[in-house]
Amino acid sequence: MEATTSLLDAAAVGDLVMLDPLSEEALLRTLQERFSREEIYTYIGEVVISVNPYKPLPIYTPEKVEEYHNCNFFAVKPHIYAIADDAYCSLRDRDRDQCILITGESGAGKTEASKLVMSYVAAVSSKGEEVDKVKEQLLQSNPVLEAFGNAKTIRNDNSSRFGKYMDVEFDFKGDPLGGVITNCQCCPLPSPPRWSQPPLSCSYTHPPFPPQTLTDLLEKSRIVRHVKGERNFHIFYQLLAGGSAQLLQKLKLRPDCSYYGYLNREKSVLPGMDDAANFRAMQDAMAIIGFTPTEVTALLEVTAVVLKLGNVELSSCFQASGMEASSITEPRELQEISQLIGLDPSTLEQALCSRTVKVRDESVLTALSVSQGYYGRDALAKNIYSRLFDWLVNRINTSIKVKPGKQRKVMGVLDIYGFEIFQDNGFEQFIINYCNEKLQQIFILMTLKEEQEEYVREGIKWTPVEFFDNSIICDLIENSKVGILAMLDEECLRPGTVNEDTFITKLNQIFASHKRYESKETLNAKHVTDISLPLRCFRIHHYAGKVTYNVTGFIEKNNDLLFRDLSQAMWAARHTLLRSLFPEGDPQRPSLKLPPTTGSQFKASVATLMKNLYSKNPNYIRCIKPNDTKTAMLFTPDLVLAQVRYLGLMENVRVRRAGYAFRQLYQPFLKRYKMLSRRTWPHWTGSDREGTEVLLAELKFPSEELAYGHTKIFIRSPRTLFDLEKRRQQRVAELATLIQAMFRGWRCRKQYQLMRKSQILISAWFRGHAQRNRYKQMKRSVLLLQAYARGWKSRRLLRELKVQRRRHLAASTISAYWKGYQTRRTYRRYFRSDARTRLSNFIYRRMVQKYLMGLQKNLPPMAVLDRTWPPAPYKFLSDANQELKGIFYRWKCKKYREQLSPQQRAVLQDKLCASELFKDKKALYAQSLQQPFRGEYLGLTQNRKYQKLQAVAKDKLVMAEAVQKVNRANGKTVPRLLLLTTEHLVLADPKAAQPKMVLSLSDIRGASVSRFSDGLLALHLKETSTAGGKGDLLLVSPHLIELVTRLHQTLMDATAQALPLSIADQFSTRFPKGDVAVTVVESAKGSSDVPVCKKRGSHKMEILVH
Ligand SMILES: Nc1ncnc2c1ncn2[C@@H]1O[C@H](COP(=O)(O)OP(=O)(O)OP(=O)(O)O)[C@@H](O)[C@H]1O
Ligand SMILES: [Mg+2]
Repeated sequence: MEATTSLLDAAAVGDLVMLDPLSEEALLRTLQERFSREEIYTYIGEVVISVNPYKPLPIYTPEKVEEYHNCNFFAVKPHIYAIADDAYCSLRDRDRDQCILITGESGAGKTEASKLVMSYVAAVSSKGEEVDKVKEQLLQSNPVLEAFGNAKTIRNDNSSRFGKYMDVEFDFKGDPLGGVITNCQCCPLPSPPRWSQPPLSCSYTHPPFPPQTLTDLLEKSRIVRHVKGERNFHIFYQLLAGGSAQLLQKLKLRPDCSYYGYLNREKSVLPGMDDAANFRAMQDAMAIIGFTPTEVTALLEVTAVVLKLGNVELSSCFQASGMEASSITEPRELQEISQLIGLDPSTLEQALCSRTVKVRDESVLTALSVSQGYYGRDALAKNIYSRLFDWLVNRINTSIKVKPGKQRKVMGVLDIYGFEIFQDNGFEQFIINYCNEKLQQIFILMTLKEEQEEYVREGIKWTPVEFFDNSIICDLIENSKVGILAMLDEECLRPGTVNEDTFITKLNQIFASHKRYESKETLNAKHVTDISLPLRCFRIHHYAGKVTYNVTGFIEKNNDLLFRDLSQAMWAARHTLLRSLFPEGDPQRPSLKLPPTTGSQFKASVATLMKNLYSKNPNYIRCIKPNDTKTAMLFTPDLVLAQVRYLGLMENVRVRRAGYAFRQLYQPFLKRYKMLSRRTWPHWTGSDREGTEVLLAELKFPSEELAYGHTKIFIRSPRTLFDLEKRRQQRVAELATLIQAMFRGWRCRKQYQLMRKSQILISAWFRGHAQRNRYKQMKRSVLLLQAYARGWKSRRLLRELKVQRRRHLAASTISAYWKGYQTRRTYRRYFRSDARTRLSNFIYRRMVQKYLMGLQKNLPPMAVLDRTWPPAPYKFLSDANQELKGIFYRWKCKKYREQLSPQQRAVLQDKLCASELFKDKKALYAQSLQQPFRGEYLGLTQNRKYQKLQAVAKDKLVMAEAVQKVNRANGKTVPRLLLLTTEHLVLADPKAAQPKMVLSLSDIRGASVSRFSDGLLALHLKETSTAGGKGDLLLVSPHLIELVTRLHQTLMDATAQALPLSIADQFSTRFPKGDVAVTVVESAKGSSDVPVCKKRGSHKMEILVH
């Protein structure tokens, strides 16, 4: 409500379009009334007029930001935030690049306005670590640029001495990504120092920067000169006031402004400006932007060099040739500069006091006069500073620039220094005012001229509004053939004597009849006397007023000369930053190409800037300065009226009132708002214009609010547009909700379907699984039941079958007995009483006959050892069969015996005797079965050695063999030859072949052998015999079985007594020292076959046999 009141308040309408009556006085009164109410912002449609209050107002608080965020432009009080919000929303929502053009006189509040716009955009765009960093860097570029580019002037304590155009780049969400600062007096093109025509050309330097880099058209003349009451750039005062003692010592500076020539040797403390605090703020800002400490130090060192150059004093001297020369008066400052930049002082001195001139390929060093020396020094200081400023802008851009590849929208903010009318206006004012003229041209073109032309073009009923078109002034300055800048260039490049007089003469000739150009000469020609227009001056009737320019310095400034020796000296310095500022000083890179003049570069830069601005949607902030004394809340009507006039605000209001606030091609209009009508949404098949008509007819706007052009729709008041926009927002919200609902529904449906499908699948699987389990269990149960049932049935059947079988058997038996009984009873009378016995005897006989006949035919083999015999065919024949088997065997043996020879019989008798003695008693017997009893094993007859023994045996030898005799004392064995004759047993020494012991057979009491398979024989002798005195003999014979058998036979033959033979493991022997119990133990096979005798005390002996 408050806003509406403000807009409609008759005495102080917020929008001048509603002014009533429409007159200059009413407009001025309204502005004054609003100003007195501290309402410094007023609209003309969407153009904001800002009147500088010169005092802080509480209208930039965060609450205000919130109030204007997404506001309805005309629904709130006029405010700079409203235009910033409008531009930002248009950029974000309509995807249109924006530019905010801030114009006005020096001190009107342009820079402050630009900062407010930036801070508003920063406040309303979204937050986040990265975005906040970008915003902070963008905002912090201001204190740094202001320190180096602003200065106190008579009109403004913080006057921008450079033009700034900053493109802030946003992403599609409206978040700032970064930016690009263009330092211009509208000039994005390089402005290198120039070099003049040959032959002097070689003395000057070449363009220092590649064409893409920015260079300043900073008011660099301020470095070396400024009027009393003004100051040099802030940085010098800030450095001296805020730099620590250590820093100043490092920079070789004194904290005293009055010491430095370029600071006019006057104390220049500004009330309300804390240079020291500002210096600290600037240092902090640099750190935030991303300057390294090394870069900051280098920057301050170069700044110090500029300041110190102003203190380099020159004095004149004369050379031997009588020519004037210059020399350094006080070398200290020069030395300090040389130390700071790392350069030999003599090189710098030579560069300052002389210059090299090339004459026909020869370099000649000529001395400079004092004035030339000072000119060179100042040119150097200006160049260093302006290039340093460019470096600074480039460095900031490096930090804030957006990475390539991102899609961006751009909001440009142009803060250009304002129109200037001084007492004495020079080349700088000419350039500045030309730029402002061009900006005014944009304003006129876009708001007044083009708008009116468009109405006519579109066939809208329109009564033309008169306005001042400044193209004539722009043409006067920039015409490429006969413009003032073209003339100036021509003069600069022209061979021969060049000075400002020839230049002004030329201007006077060309523009003699120009309406907007005046000079003493042209006025004289028209017989007009004007003492305010001196000689060497010309006057231009700018849109903002008449300005008289003094041409002195035009040519020099347009040429912008710098001696080549100086740039070479700078390049030779070891200071990296300074050296990089003068690349053209590299002697290896000479270039003879003539660089463009300052004026022509400026013109080109202005053209580029204009093109840039035309490509964007313009938003205007027109700043008005209310008084000349910077007094808070003081409104000087005359001063404001002058600005109102030259800013063309009245015309602006008139066109605005008569015209339409909004226009757009039918196609984008319909596309944007078609959702507001059911007939046009979602598809309109007819023409765009028809669609627009249908749409707006349905919305029922008053007919005077709308006009239909050939290609565009025109809407008269912003309110209608806002209404339209509001409805659209509501409808978009509805549609968005609908889409969301549809989408959510679709998503839920999809999810439900998926879940249902999954659930069905899972339950199918589960049911299958459960059924399978149930089935398996049932199957198991059924099988069990079946098994039980079958078992039970089978068992029952079995029982029945068994009973049946028993019954059957019983029945069969009974019937058999019964039948037998019946048969016997029936047939009994037909048989005799002994028939049975006779029959059975007959059958028996037949069976026996058959058996015996079978035996006859199948008798077993005759081999004695074959004991086979056929079995009995009937049981009753088994005894007979057994008997027959024995008879047959004995008969077989008899037959065998009968066919034996006497020798064979003797052998077999021996074997039989052995069998009787040993079979089943001694294990050795089984081995002896296969060995034939040879008897003679020594070969007595063949071996002559045994002749004596042969004689002993004569013809009575029974057996001869080699034996081992066991020593009864120690158990060791000795070899002996044993001879058994029919009468004696002889033991002989095998070596001597002499009998050692001859025993009569009657002396032998008995013999003992073990059960094992050894050959040990204990021969027990009678005590009465001669040999028996020595005790029993223990012999080991390899043919023990044969020996004992033959001994037994021989003894039988000789004495008719059997040999008493004991076969046992233990037996007693009689040895000379008494009876000894011998135990024979069978052990594992040892190394020898001979038994090992071990005496166990005097009456026991253990013999280990194998
Ligand atoms: N909105 C404002 N509120 C309070 N004071 C303001 C406002 N705008 C400007 N000022 C005051 O006016 C002074 C000059 O403003 P500013 O530096 O913005 O002028 P300018 O138009 O940029 O001038 P120049 O062209 O010389 O750079 C500021 O230092 C400030 O004191
Ligand atoms: Mg400014």
